[in-house]
Amino acid sequence: SSTKLLIKGGTVVNAHHQEVADVYVEDGIIVAVKPDLKVSDDVKVIDATGKFVMPGGIDPHTHLAMEFMGTETIDDFFSGQAAALAGGTTMHIDFVIPVNDSLIAGLETYEEKAKKSCMDYGFHMAITKFDDIVSRDMEIIVKEKGINSFKFFLAYKGSLMVNDELLLEGLKRCKSLGALAMVHAENGDAVFEGQKRMIQLGITGPEGHALSRPPVLEGEATARAIRLAGFVNTPLYVVHVMSIDAMEEIAKARKSGQRVVGEPVVSGLVLDDSGLWDSDFATASKYVMSPPIRASGHDKALQGALSNGVLQLVGTDHCVFNSTQKAFGIDDFRKIPNGVNGIEERMHLVWDTMVESGQISITDYVRVTSTECARIFNIYPRKGAIIAGSDADIIILNPNSSFEINARSHHSRTDTNVYEGRRGKGKVEVTIAGGRVVWENNELKVVPGSGKYIEMPPFNYLFSGIDKADASYLSSLNAPVKRSKSTT
Ligand code: URP
Ligand code: ZN
Ligand code: ZN
Ligand code: ZN
Repeated sequence: SSTKLLIKGGTVVNAHHQEVADVYVEDGIIVAVKPDLKVSDDVKVIDATGKFVMPGGIDPHTHLAMEFMGTETIDDFFSGQAAALAGGTTMHIDFVIPVNDSLIAGLETYEEKAKKSCMDYGFHMAITKFDDIVSRDMEIIVKEKGINSFKFFLAYKGSLMVNDELLLEGLKRCKSLGALAMVHAENGDAVFEGQKRMIQLGITGPEGHALSRPPVLEGEATARAIRLAGFVNTPLYVVHVMSIDAMEEIAKARKSGQRVVGEPVVSGLVLDDSGLWDSDFATASKYVMSPPIRASGHDKALQGALSNGVLQLVGTDHCVFNSTQKAFGIDDFRKIPNGVNGIEERMHLVWDTMVESGQISITDYVRVTSTECARIFNIYPRKGAIIAGSDADIIILNPNSSFEINARSHHSRTDTNVYEGRRGKGKVEVTIAGGRVVWENNELKVVPGSGKYIEMPPFNYLFSGIDKADASYLSSLNAPVKRSKSTT
């Protein structure tokens, strides 16, 4: 079936350029972007006059149908993606966490879960141990399975955490494969210590979660990961940057020329930790995620870092548990499943917080919500752009309309929302995914199985020149000093 669409009269915004133009779509692909396009009568026309026509959002960081902390996230690949589409996100990259399985078996589990997808998706792979088999499987994953990034957890001691030796092995392997190393940067040993201390002090509620893992532990792990990546000379992507401490380490490294990418998430940009002190457990526990949502001030500093380019793209870390699951930790914050929502809210909250406030331009909005993610994961300009030949993943945002967030009307399966009651300007009125109108007039029309797996090739732009840098470093070293064995 050949679906034809014309989006008429809107301001088409790309990361590099914006102009008033029509967008013509056929069979899921953008065919033309030009003012005043003439089309035949069988084409569905959408009037976008006075609105912005932008690439659909790409969320670089989600956890759908993930088994974690003794339970499973309540949004699966269908419900999480439906929520995403209702909020203007048309692709996400999810983390395969192969807890006890091989990497390949872990991936197969996720391939199965993703069969009900209603939008395009890709995968990152988590590495929780390292040996010859993992090393071989990493090569298969990159060369045959379309995954170009591996995540290392420096936190979650006793389950996912890796030590420095393993991180170094992983960084070297990533480099040789042209895959991007990603880190969850918190010092897991110190977190474990901090948690024991809170329990000893009798602090068992959700506030204990934040108190047990302060910003200094995020700063330490971020600095350590950056230095080790610098030692290996491979690019590094720091996921969910939540604190000034971590952000400043990234700023310093980037200033020195190191290739470090920093990903803030929406919760870190727009929330502060006050909710964790709410006397109602259901309210307080919904804010529990790692690294924790920080004290007021970190949010504004992260917004500033996104606006000045120290941080480059916004994720969500969408990882939701309902209030029944959160209540597993009613007597002990260590048992509260970690994670917050955001996949549906990201595009609206970044628009309102960053564009409406004047902190970033509209072209920068496209860059931080879509284009930069496509570039980093090597799928630009198929994704992240509105140009002839790109996939027809498109949103129409009305800057004069407004959004309101609450658990009653959101599309996620969870029963709470960390952004409950927020309103703001700018509303995604239409979402087009793979050339199909899936969100219009506040109605979702999603089809399970219509989402495609997007293969992501290795050696992104961050790798360019790395071999040369290594070669010039080696040639700059003096020949080994020859010493005689004789003693005096
Ligand atoms: O609390 C969080 N962030 N849950 C998801 C797992 C992770 O660390 O990204
Ligand atoms: Zn132009
Ligand atoms: Zn993490
Ligand atoms: Zn995460």
